[in-house]
Amino acid sequence: MKHQTIAVLDFGSQYTQVIARRIRECSVYSKIYPFKTSAKELKKDNVVGIIFSGGPESVLSKGSPRPDKRIFDLGIPVLGICYGVQLIAHLLGGKVEKSTHREYGHGVLKIRRKGNLFKGLPNKLRVWNSHGDRLSKLPKGFSAVASTENSGFAGIADERRRIFGIQFHPEVDHTEGGLNILENYLGKICGCKGDWSMASLAEESIASIKETVGSDRVLLGLSGGVDSSVAAALIHKAIGRQLTCVFVDNGLLRLNERELVGDLYRRHFKMDVRVARAGGKFLKRLKGVSDPERKRKIIGNTFVEVFQESLKKIGYAKFLAQGTLYPDVIESVSIDGNPAATIKSHHNVGGLPKKMKFKLLEPLRQLFKDEVRALGAELGLPKEVVWRQPFPGPGLGVRVMGSVTKSKLDILRKADAILHDEMMQSDLYYKVWQSFCVFLPIRTVGVMGDERTYENVVAVRIVESKDAMTADWVRVPYDILQRVSNRIINEVSGINRVVYDISSKPPGTIEWE
Ligand code: XMP
Repeated sequence: MKHQTIAVLDFGSQYTQVIARRIRECSVYSKIYPFKTSAKELKKDNVVGIIFSGGPESVLSKGSPRPDKRIFDLGIPVLGICYGVQLIAHLLGGKVEKSTHREYGHGVLKIRRKGNLFKGLPNKLRVWNSHGDRLSKLPKGFSAVASTENSGFAGIADERRRIFGIQFHPEVDHTEGGLNILENYLGKICGCKGDWSMASLAEESIASIKETVGSDRVLLGLSGGVDSSVAAALIHKAIGRQLTCVFVDNGLLRLNERELVGDLYRRHFKMDVRVARAGGKFLKRLKGVSDPERKRKIIGNTFVEVFQESLKKIGYAKFLAQGTLYPDVIESVSIDGNPAATIKSHHNVGGLPKKMKFKLLEPLRQLFKDEVRALGAELGLPKEVVWRQPFPGPGLGVRVMGSVTKSKLDILRKADAILHDEMMQSDLYYKVWQSFCVFLPIRTVGVMGDERTYENVVAVRIVESKDAMTADWVRVPYDILQRVSNRIINEVSGINRVVYDISSKPPGTIEWE
């Protein structure tokens, strides 16, 4: 069965993906189409609703993007958002003019007539605006259904033809009731039944990977993190042993990490996972280096080198898969309505030799992190993978302060495993953003039994955060801190003192190096 589809025509707003994502949240399938897509093509795809996204241009400029006008004759409900509503007005005989006043940021929307679009909503809403032009005359058949301080036409509707337009952004969190407006559009106007789920997303992605890859081979760098794990599970479901994963053991991993990865992906999922054991190489290059930036560079460069060598050993493959997510694609999600034009060149591919001409396979490119987690769960990945805390690429290399040695790493690994264990036991692990130990290369005096000790310090860092841009230290119950401290000091030889980091970000960072 083909799902009811909402077509989002992309006029260049950086929120286009957010619109699509909100629709998925309502259990409706949405697909983003280039703005030029013809009415005929849309009709073919079981489209039950069409949304014109916002965009950075002005409909008054020559050459600004326009949709196929025949879309209005399809009888399929249309919703224009921001630039989208201006298109509707402009194309159907209304008038758009440059405003003296750019409306940007919060505004108060007054709803004059609720109709289906605003059904169930209060009469006033705080909404998010970002536009320069304004409507000054409505096209025939339309009425103004909502207004803001700066515009009498913040919401317009032709209920008979089922064409609607809103000047603000219902898809962003800053708009009160935004999701309800979209839900109304989907349910009450387009007649969506909510026939779509994560399981359908998995199914569709698997089918599309099969089609793209055909009988070719795919390579993927598996780090054990959420993104690469979900990408691997998805691609493996699609093409099985045509996928080969490379896991680089850089010697900077946590306790038993390599074994756990082997167990899960090789044994449980029966994936072809090649482990590049390169701990020795990394440690040799890191010897005596204590500057954090130099350490990071060495680890990064060595990773690329080891990864390339592994790829060469594996032999030819047409595709290189990556767990790139939508937020990785957009450099900055600022909310000023700029086009999402600044695309990050993804760092993982940067260092690959020119001779290795891979096609990129990025099946998670349209998804947000929480969707990737839900997809991972759908594919049978365990909670420990799907909800794993972030772990930095340079691993424990940036958690051993100063120069890195195997013995310091071993001590840190043991302390970190104890913290991990206690976080799990106390049900805190999944509630915080990150919890980890840092090895401090200073020694302090202590007593153990009758003996004086002179050993190193471990710092415990536990932070909460939404996006890692800011963070605060977690007010962990004292008894948990006490257990962590006691166990580390008693069970890890080489450590006789544990301290708790009470710095927030900013001005501190989450990692210490
Ligand atoms: P900071 O220390 O800058 O860290 O507050 C913010 C978040 O990023 C993680 N982090 C990294 N992740 N490669 C990564 O993949 C890195 O080099 C790296 N450095 C920091 C850090 O763990 C935190 O979640």
